[in-house]
This record gives sequence, C-alpha cells and structure tokens, in this order.
Amino acid sequence: MGNCSESMASTQEVTTAVDPINHTTINTNREFHNEESATYWLPKDEDEQKRLTGQHFGCKELFGGNVLNSIRDTLDFEKGISILDDMINDYPNCTYHGCDIVDVTNKVLEIKQFTYKHGNVVKGLPYADSMFDFVHMRFFVYALRKEEWPIAIKELIRVVKPGGMLQITEADPQLPKDSSSIVYTLTNTFNSIAISKGQNIEIAQELESLLSAHDNVKVVQSEDRRCNMSKSAKISS
Ligand SMILES: C[S@@+](CC[C@H](N)C(=O)[O-])C[C@H]1O[C@@H](n2cnc3c(N)ncnc32)[C@H](O)[C@@H]1O
Repeated sequence: MGNCSESMASTQEVTTAVDPINHTTINTNREFHNEESATYWLPKDEDEQKRLTGQHFGCKELFGGNVLNSIRDTLDFEKGISILDDMINDYPNCTYHGCDIVDVTNKVLEIKQFTYKHGNVVKGLPYADSMFDFVHMRFFVYALRKEEWPIAIKELIRVVKPGGMLQITEADPQLPKDSSSIVYTLTNTFNSIAISKGQNIEIAQELESLLSAHDNVKVVQSEDRRCNMSKSAKISS
C-alpha cells in the first residue's frame, strides 16, 4: 500500500513514455498497456507479474486446480489438446496459446508448445473459428466495460471447437462486513475506480446468464468459492 500511494503521488511530476512496439506506457515507475480502447488499469510490469503469480496459486488452491472437474472429466489432457490458456506444468502434452494486449510471457524460459499472440478480445481474437478444445479466460473484472462482456463471450465461444469447453473464472469483489478493515478500503477503492471506467464489478454473478443466452452453449458447471481475506487464511465453498 505504501508503495502504491507513493507512486500515485509522483505521477504528476513524471513524463509518460509510450513504446508502440511493446504496446507499453511507462508512467512513473510502473508500466501499463498501451491499447487505446482498453479500460484495463492495472500495471503489466514485473511487480504485477509477481502479484499475478501469487493470485494464480491462491486461485488454484481455492478451486483444487486450474480446471473445473467437468472439464477434466470431458477433455483428454493427457492425449494432448489445443488450449487457449497457460497450464503447461499441469498438462505438458498439450499445445498452448496465450493472447493478451501486452506480451507478458516469460522471455527466459523458452517453451516450445506455447505461442503468444497480441490480441484484444473485444476487437476479435487472432484465431480461426473452432480452433481450441479448451479456452480459459480469467480475471477480467477490471479489464472490460459492462457492454464489452457479451462481445468478449461471443468471441471466446467462436474459437472453441464444437464439443470443446470454455471456462471463465472471475473475481467477485464484494465488500467485507467490517468497514474498518484494510481489505474493505482496498476493495472499495478498486471498485470505485472500476465503476468510474464503466466496468461491471458484479460480472461474476452474471456470467451464467450471459453464457446461457447462446443456443450452442450448455453451462455444465458453476462454482462459487469465497475466501475471507480480512481474517487469517480461511477458505470456504
Ligand atoms: C488480471 S490480469 C490476468 C492475467 C492472467 N489471465 C491470469 O489469470 O493470471 C488481466 C489480463 O488481461 C489483459 N487484458 C486486459 N484487457 C484485455 C483485452 N481487452 N483483451 C485481451 N487482454 C486483455 C491484461 O493485459 C492482463 O494481462
């Protein structure tokens, strides 16, 4: 938190540099994406990658894996399928694709079965129809405007093979009861920023109906796991 307010305070004094090649804006000591139409407002630098790594393992623990049971039961990950996501350590036989408005792939590890492509899910993914057995999109609550969600979901469905699976994992940033807690202040601040950008902080609760609106989609599993971050690490389902 200390670092966060320090960098906010210094933003007015520092010139913003734009690097169109790397799709990056460098603002003070944090780096951001440079995709004009996108409302995503979290940084993309090394510190943020560390936070995302922590979030990744927290989420994996909460759900007992990266993939929901129904997907594990339906698709043959051992055989090797085509995936739009990044779970190489879990299923090394598969072919992986990653798509983002910034390239945050690890440049040190060269992973032969992984291909990154620049793309904006609202403008259209850079893939042919029905290309993937499994598509996973995660943590876009602070990335898409309310009206962009149906467009993004339609685009995700377009690239899934008939009989394939789509998983959307989303945070539901509800305020804790105790308004004196730091988690309350943090969540409230994040949500206020998101609302000011036209984003939908309740999207997690609306995903099922948005998906069900498509005739060619059947919702087979919907999971809600809560983690109380105000107290010591208690996990409940
Ligand atoms: C919270 S991060 C989640 C990253 C990763 N999916 C994970 O689960 O750790 C959200 C990511 O979405 C990307 N993003 C934001 N808006 C996007 C858009 N319109 N199209 C594609 N990617 C976008 C951001 O650059 C960022 O890398």
